[in-house]
Amino acid sequence: MGKLDGKVAIVTGASRGIGKAVAIGFAREGALVAIVARTVEQLKSGLAGTILETADEVKTAGGKALAIRTNILVEDEVQAMVEKVLNEWGTIDILVNNSAVAAPGPFSETTTKRWELVIGVNLLGTFLCTKAVLPTMMKQRSGSIINTSSGAADGRIRSVTGAAYGTAKAAVEHFSCSLAAELGPYNIAVNCYKPAQGVATEGYVFNLPPDFDKSRLVGPEKMVKAAIFLAQQDASGVTGCVARDEELIQWHGLS
Ligand SMILES: NC(=O)c1ccc[n+]([C@@H]2O[C@H](COP(=O)([O-])OP(=O)(O)OC[C@H]3O[C@@H](n4cnc5c(N)ncnc54)[C@H](OP(=O)(O)O)[C@@H]3O)[C@@H](O)[C@H]2O)c1
Repeated sequence: MGKLDGKVAIVTGASRGIGKAVAIGFAREGALVAIVARTVEQLKSGLAGTILETADEVKTAGGKALAIRTNILVEDEVQAMVEKVLNEWGTIDILVNNSAVAAPGPFSETTTKRWELVIGVNLLGTFLCTKAVLPTMMKQRSGSIINTSSGAADGRIRSVTGAAYGTAKAAVEHFSCSLAAELGPYNIAVNCYKPAQGVATEGYVFNLPPDFDKSRLVGPEKMVKAAIFLAQQDASGVTGCVARDEELIQWHGLS
């Protein structure tokens, strides 16, 4: 028996990286997974990963997936994505807000457009996807919302991901706790997790400066383990928690 048997999950940013690994991990635990992001064919930039490839990998592993091309900055697209999931599978139990864009480079060179994009994808996208699933979760009085932060949210040294990214992630952490308080009476868990160490994802590695030491980067396995744990929560379990993957694994004895 899988830990998420029959649960319906939406994972944003699942065309590559941690989102892709979480989507596959959820499917292995029996969840039906909506694979959400924008890329449907290989990008000329060389940045690998499409939602169709992720969906194919889920299906090859015997899972059920629905690839839904969505720009999470566009409210109508987010609403349409949620309606598609509801039409296909009838409910939504889990939302993983994982999509992200960073702002590498110095703040003094960050354009207004880049600032808006980074705050937008990390924060507005999280807001729009959360708002879109809430009517369903509030009506059924259960659900788990998992937001994704970064060490950049509390780091006070210069980071390769840039000031806008850390600013957005700090806001995502605050948002998670505020929302947990509001949604407790509806039995909806809201948590926020982040990697303890840099994860060698397609997007992260693509944006690193050439001289960056990649030897300490890890795979997404701990994030997947933590996400599967958080996905099983409702408000009677763990909620309002902001934690690193390794902390969740130790605190809750996840093996
Ligand atoms: N990797 C790390 O070391 C690390 C460290 C700390 C925190 N994190 C966090 O972990 C999460 C995953 O990181 P990652 O390294 O796996 O990222 P990644 O490889 O760069 O992937 C980012 C994902 O976000 C999606 N995305 C970007 N803009 C979007 C938009 N407008 N609409 C929909 N989807 C959009 C991308 O898909 P499309 O381009 O196809 O739309 C892609 O699937 C992020 O929240 C990140 O901040 C990662």
